[in-house]
Amino acid sequence: MKKQSIQEVRRSLPIFPYREDLLAAINEHQILVIEGETGSGKTTQIPQYLLEDGYTKGGMKIGCTQPRRVAAMSVAARVAEEMSVKLGNEVGYSIRFEDCTSERTVLKYMTDGMLLREFLTEPDLASYSVIIIDEAHERTLHTDILFGLIKDIARFRSDLKVLVASATLDTERFSCFFDDAPVFRIPGRRFPVDIFYTKAPEADYLEACVVSVLQIHVTQPPGDILVFLTGQEEIEACCELLQERCRRLGSKIAELLVLPIYANLPSDMQAKIFNPTPPGARKVVVATNIAETSLTIDGIIYVIDPGFCKQKSYNARTGMESLIVTPCSRASANQRAGRAGRVAAGKCFRLYTAWAYKHEMEETTVPEIQRTNLGNVVLLLKSLGINDLIHFDFMDPPPHETLVLALEQLYALGALNHLGELTKVKLSEFKIHTGFHFCNICSLMLFSRYKCSEEVLTIAAMLSVNNSIFYRPKDKVVHADNARMNFVVPGGDHLVLLNVYNQSGYSTQWCYENFIQFRSMRRARDVRDQLEGLMDRIEVEVVSCQGDSVPVRKAVTAGYFYHTARLSKGGYKTVKHQQTVYVHPNSSLFEEQPRWLIYHELVFTTKEFMRQVIEIESGWLLEVAPHYYKSKELEDSSSKKMPRKQGKTKEELG
Ligand code: CDP
Ligand code: MG
Repeated sequence: MKKQSIQEVRRSLPIFPYREDLLAAINEHQILVIEGETGSGKTTQIPQYLLEDGYTKGGMKIGCTQPRRVAAMSVAARVAEEMSVKLGNEVGYSIRFEDCTSERTVLKYMTDGMLLREFLTEPDLASYSVIIIDEAHERTLHTDILFGLIKDIARFRSDLKVLVASATLDTERFSCFFDDAPVFRIPGRRFPVDIFYTKAPEADYLEACVVSVLQIHVTQPPGDILVFLTGQEEIEACCELLQERCRRLGSKIAELLVLPIYANLPSDMQAKIFNPTPPGARKVVVATNIAETSLTIDGIIYVIDPGFCKQKSYNARTGMESLIVTPCSRASANQRAGRAGRVAAGKCFRLYTAWAYKHEMEETTVPEIQRTNLGNVVLLLKSLGINDLIHFDFMDPPPHETLVLALEQLYALGALNHLGELTKVKLSEFKIHTGFHFCNICSLMLFSRYKCSEEVLTIAAMLSVNNSIFYRPKDKVVHADNARMNFVVPGGDHLVLLNVYNQSGYSTQWCYENFIQFRSMRRARDVRDQLEGLMDRIEVEVVSCQGDSVPVRKAVTAGYFYHTARLSKGGYKTVKHQQTVYVHPNSSLFEEQPRWLIYHELVFTTKEFMRQVIEIESGWLLEVAPHYYKSKELEDSSSKKMPRKQGKTKEELG
């Protein structure tokens, strides 16, 4: 019974009437751009059509990239269900840290980053008959790089089909980039959506979301609600507020199911958002912009859009990357509104003014490649043998200064020689395997002269699951903070992480009792194993410094020397650029405020916070990065023996 109904759903999707035309167009053209509304069936159906049409004969694979891990997993699960096969057999997915594929896999969903990684082992992607670059409009860094690489290999692999799939955005540009590839349009099935703006800006958009949800719930006809927030913390806060108010209202209102969705949510919880809403109840899904185009949730009639998203931004002058909450683009806002009109006429409540929509939002989102540190990309391309990056075929080239800065940084770190060639250590492998700030990690390795690679490996692994080690549920904040305090050791957060790792057992029980996230610990172990394997391959000996923190702190300094901050009046200032920054309240050094710090990353919330900091001595900077620092810059005002309380002038504080 169930199987039949799922086939009926397949046949009811907007893409279905175009099945034959689409296959004919793919047959005729090597590269095809496919445009269709979110939910029309591009991601789930096209790979199946191709399979049914024989594209996987001889064990050839069809690859479909997704910018988001959650989307890759959930879509693969859906397709496996539609085909009545076990996930991981014919249909599988591959995301960082998790390969759910087998010898038999012919439909492979993966993150765009994972396909990039495959270029290292299979530069012509010979095992694929079709590559679908899906969600192309998202323009993630990895997708943009894939564009250039795939366009290149398509020239000599005439048998490879390339499909560029996108929501109804930007398709002309894709066509233009791929030498005027034809655009196949799947006509939308979209109902009208009424859009409502607030009269005045909202002071607290979280609160405004909660109020709007309850208002809709109480006054509007049936239909589920989708709320767009910027990240896990906001989403959890919103869900809690909603649940609490519903509890208070009790039986006065109908049942409201509150469901969060964000990347780090455990997958069984993620799956819940797709469950049909029981009769008489209403569902509210509180999501990041993952629900904008990558996931389709049936039954949504109401959308609440505060108009913000979290975005990476990069300052090429200072070399700093930060994640900040910014107004989303008009294109995003329109996609969000569109989610309300998929099954019936819907309503979108924008928690900003019509004026703000017109005047304060950008038309489209700036592609990630133009607002990110390019270190990783440069290394990846170099290890693929692409040396001339200035002339790489970028759809939107990154700013010249960003590229130059990346080259300089890599040179400073010893990853490139003076000719701009990769040095012996294939640094990109670190990124590929661990997926994080690998150049720093590598340099941690390169500076293994401090004889503490054992510790550094652990710290690198723990940092790679950053900020998700400690579990801090709202109703047990005090217990959680106490548990965390038990792990504190002098010197800084890196050493605390090391301590957690060394104390941790493999048991879920231990993690539970100590408010440590089991999943994150398991992932840290995986990463550590991978790194250790790499150390072995590049013949770096794994040795321990036996509890002495100085070598560890020096090694971290060696890797992150350009992330230095110095205590000054009212907070910290970064050494090179004099930017004011603060120690994050969760840090073990929050109260201590040592004079010199290295930070792992900056996050901007209410202020520019340094997350994961470690205490260092300024002299080490000259030792590890003499090309970067002049001793004058590092003169310690404390050496002038002037007590801080006597009020120094601004100049003295530097
Ligand atoms: O890629 P596109 O946005 O065009 O659509 P899709 O992801 O292929 O989704 C087509 C349909 O599959 C949606 O309308 C949902 O009804 C269904 N679907 C689902 O039920 N569960 C999923 N995890 C994914 C899709
Ligand atoms: Mg899709």
